[in-house]
Amino acid sequence: MAKILVTGGTGFIGSHTVVELQKKGFEVVIVDNLSNSNIDVLLGIEKITGIRPAFENIDCVDYVSMDRMFEKHNNIEAIIHFAASKAVGESVEKPLHYYRNNLVSLINLLQLMPIHKVKNFVFSSSCTVYGQPDVLPVTENAPIKFAMSPYGNTKQIGEEIIRDTIHANPCYQSIILRYFNPIGAHASAEIGELPNGVPNNLLPFVTQTAIGLRKQLQVYGNDYNTPDGSCIRDYIHVVDLAKAHVIAVQRMLTGQAGCRVETFNLGTGRGLSVLEIIETFEKVNGVKVPYKIVARREGDIEKVWADPTYANNVLGWTATETLEETLRSSWVWEQNLAKRSKAE
Ligand code: WQD
Repeated sequence: MAKILVTGGTGFIGSHTVVELQKKGFEVVIVDNLSNSNIDVLLGIEKITGIRPAFENIDCVDYVSMDRMFEKHNNIEAIIHFAASKAVGESVEKPLHYYRNNLVSLINLLQLMPIHKVKNFVFSSSCTVYGQPDVLPVTENAPIKFAMSPYGNTKQIGEEIIRDTIHANPCYQSIILRYFNPIGAHASAEIGELPNGVPNNLLPFVTQTAIGLRKQLQVYGNDYNTPDGSCIRDYIHVVDLAKAHVIAVQRMLTGQAGCRVETFNLGTGRGLSVLEIIETFEKVNGVKVPYKIVARREGDIEKVWADPTYANNVLGWTATETLEETLRSSWVWEQNLAKRSKAE
């Protein structure tokens, strides 16, 4: 079966995608510098699938090491590129880290593809490329607006770099996947969201507050133009998201993509506010999440949710997990983490 390179494969979405790739019989090579993940994730993947993926502890920004990696793991047939920094708020504080890490890693991979005869590239993009859309739900044809954060800008620039590269090399093909907000965890609770340090994203902060690791969740603003004043997002189960990546790889390997760039929104089509997430999480799991409304976070947009029709029709992919199941899986994962740290 084809060999797939997954950069950032010990990360949240990456690890779940590795599991789905292995379930479909793909051989997986993970490259990750473990800057926002943990080597134990390999064990979690192996516990689920019985297969420990090949792993290279490399920073994708390091061209020479990546070149050597392609030499070692030859006949890679497709790349799924997750490895990037991904926190909106952090990117406002550290823009140069984001531009260097997210763009140099991408350019390295695109330069190494023709050298190592890899023709298929899946890019991890984000709904942040839309900025604050004028029309909701947002479709792939929506105008790319001013990105409200350096993180969002790296995704916009990254997409442009890919489009120009594929245009110049028409025998290559790329599928750009624009994620909305990935949350949840694998049903086994062997893998899940495991940010290093203080979480930037909402759900890990919610689960760590609920379990007592954090005293209080800070809700960044309730003065937005939304029904309850808090920001609205399209929260999608990470396993639904992972499955879309397998479909994208299969689409390119079977030549259905056609030597060009295709772009898809991966969302549920449902917008939920921060306060609705907290309320539903508490109801589903029977726990309390103490929170305090504080000032808005710089870089946040007010509201965004997907029109996933194009992905539904062209990829034959739809998000199927319910919100309740998704929020339950996040909580079970956090509880499992707590058990593990007690056992250590
Ligand atoms: C969601 C909402 C916050 C934390 C980014 C990327 C996206 C994806 C996920 C990669 C916002 C609010 C958050 C907290 C809060 N990245 N919030 N208190 O910024 O929508 O999306 O991360 O997969 O591509 O753009 O996600 O989870 O940080 O925030 O009130 O402690 O929760 O203000 O409204 P975001 P997020």
